[in-house]
Amino acid sequence: MQVLVASNRGPVSFGRSEDGALTVRRGGGGLVSGLASVAAGTDLLWICAALSDDDRTAAREDPEGRLDRAGHDTGAVRMLDIPEKTFQRAYNSVANSTLWFVHHLLYDTPNAPHFDAAFRRDWQAYAAYNAAFAGALGQDAAPGAKVVVQDYHLALVPGMLRQARPDLRIAHFSHTPWAPPAYFRLLPDDIATDILEGMLGADHLGFLSERWAGAFLDCCAEILDAKVDRISGTVTHRGRTTRVGVHALGVDGAELRERAGRADVAERMAQLREQVGGRQLILRIDRTELSKNIVRGLAAYWELLLNHPEWRGQVVHVAFAYPSRTDLPEYRAYTAAVERLAGEINDEFGTDTWTPLILQVKDDYARSLAALRIADVLVVNPIRDGMNLVAKEGPVLSDGGCALVLSREAGAAAELGEDALPVNPFDVSQTAETLNQALLLGAEERRERTARLAAAATALPPGHWFAEQLTALDGVH
Ligand code: G6P
Repeated sequence: MQVLVASNRGPVSFGRSEDGALTVRRGGGGLVSGLASVAAGTDLLWICAALSDDDRTAAREDPEGRLDRAGHDTGAVRMLDIPEKTFQRAYNSVANSTLWFVHHLLYDTPNAPHFDAAFRRDWQAYAAYNAAFAGALGQDAAPGAKVVVQDYHLALVPGMLRQARPDLRIAHFSHTPWAPPAYFRLLPDDIATDILEGMLGADHLGFLSERWAGAFLDCCAEILDAKVDRISGTVTHRGRTTRVGVHALGVDGAELRERAGRADVAERMAQLREQVGGRQLILRIDRTELSKNIVRGLAAYWELLLNHPEWRGQVVHVAFAYPSRTDLPEYRAYTAAVERLAGEINDEFGTDTWTPLILQVKDDYARSLAALRIADVLVVNPIRDGMNLVAKEGPVLSDGGCALVLSREAGAAAELGEDALPVNPFDVSQTAETLNQALLLGAEERRERTARLAAAATALPPGHWFAEQLTALDGVH
């Protein structure tokens, strides 16, 4: 069986060694781990975009962008060398500054969005970038192959590919939430229609939770006037029927624990323990991403220390905020706001013997795993999030039990809600009080809740999650 995967960010990227030679870096995440487990016996090809100059060089050096040297266990990789300007407009302007904002409800609506002639030009680039993927998939796919397209960057690909290659079995998976119709309608009408119709070119559309699948169905009913059957999860539009399914990506407990059991993690656990000095550890780990709500999370910690002075000197908040999408001005401003508030908390409450907040912005995977093993409280408070895997990794890795403060707007809340401590991500005062409750939770209750959370978090590991989507394509054609 041939399986093709298409996503903006692929399983590998390129950098330079000190002597200037191209070096391969391997990525991680649910898709990489899901694919690795179906790779044996499957003819796999992963098509992605060249994201940097080094990626472009690598793509140009290898015939047709096929990175045979990547040697990844997720099969062959083909990197598309899309013209730089087209890529920047499609990725930064449309995918990350528009579609991401729409699905995560991030606009400050008196000022944005603002769909003018410049946006029309960027939309053309987005369509060209999607066409480049559809063209490459059409070229490489054997008759009847299964194609699994990922995320909002490639919403038009299913429709384009369906037209060119009706023989293919096409799935699309959304790793983000989906906007409710009232918000999706912010998009220009023709573009909203193009996106929905583009997605409906697929045979199967996957979402991370019932809520996001439901919002998509609502958009199809209200905006396209399509025939939606909520019981069977199908949309019929212009004579074609697309199935909509929920696949709640979880984590592979054994793989994660094995990684977190290595020496580099043990070393960082010792360093962290020294920094925290026997106090309770409140942890958060995010990309520095607007939707992750880091500023309100830190403000809640401030309010906790203000209203519950008994915790001063007794807790340390460790916040890992790793760089993300730094080409966008909103993200640079947000990073500065996070750093500013962190500094203010330490100025306000810090003493000679106690640093209340440790903010680290340099990505260190082993240190993240170490912190998850020893944290007493884990804060995951996004404004809105497709799933949030940190909320699942925390309970799986916790050595002694960890209270999970979890936004009700994260996809993960659907599975973890009962044993987490839920918060409204906009309510800073409620989040502060919930942090207090989390710190007060008895050791035994923490352990029991953590065990149940870990069981829920590992219910659908990446291998099964990916296999489910392939199976969903068996019945079509
Ligand atoms: C989310 C999206 C992914 C994306 C990732 C990192 O998880 O669903 O598609 O790859 O964020 O964002 P970036 O823009 O760095 O690829």
